[in-house]
Amino acid sequence: MTQGTKQPQPSQSTVSIKFRGQKVVVPRATKLRTALLKSGLTPHSEGAVYINCRGIGSCGTCAVEIRGVVEPSSWTVAERLRLNFPPHSVPNNSRLRLACQVSCMGDLEVVKYDKFWGEGNDPLPDLQARPESVTPLGALEFILDGGAASDASSASSGSSIEDAKRDIDTTGPP
Ligand code: FES
Repeated sequence: MTQGTKQPQPSQSTVSIKFRGQKVVVPRATKLRTALLKSGLTPHSEGAVYINCRGIGSCGTCAVEIRGVVEPSSWTVAERLRLNFPPHSVPNNSRLRLACQVSCMGDLEVVKYDKFWGEGNDPLPDLQARPESVTPLGALEFILDGGAASDASSASSGSSIEDAKRDIDTTGPP
């Protein structure tokens, strides 16, 4: 690199998320679950990709560990209820947040643990490629996310989830 050459700085309107060996850049304040799904990644594991509450905060399957700044900074009422309900339990629950309940406010590192609800002890391994499909319901996956509601309505007027995914810059492994 030429001395004095400046690296491009990421826009303050975006944040990066490292997740299972992948890195994505999303608009700041995007709900974490929405950001991952629209990037072709998912906070859900196993069959929870299909069976989850779509962001109500009741199923607990989007539980992840987050390093970085999100809002709110501590558990919401929904998180307090769900992350204290089996199979989530003390002490592992204390490190978890529900991806559907938090907004990405800074660069994040997100860890998903094993088992259906992400309640296990072992982080899921790095992905070599994006999964085939993480949004089986298409734009309806985000129907409860106010920030992504316009995507859902535009999808119903002819756009697709692929259009929504193009709105988010994604890159491969860092
Ligand atoms: S998607 Fe069900 S709790 Fe987050």
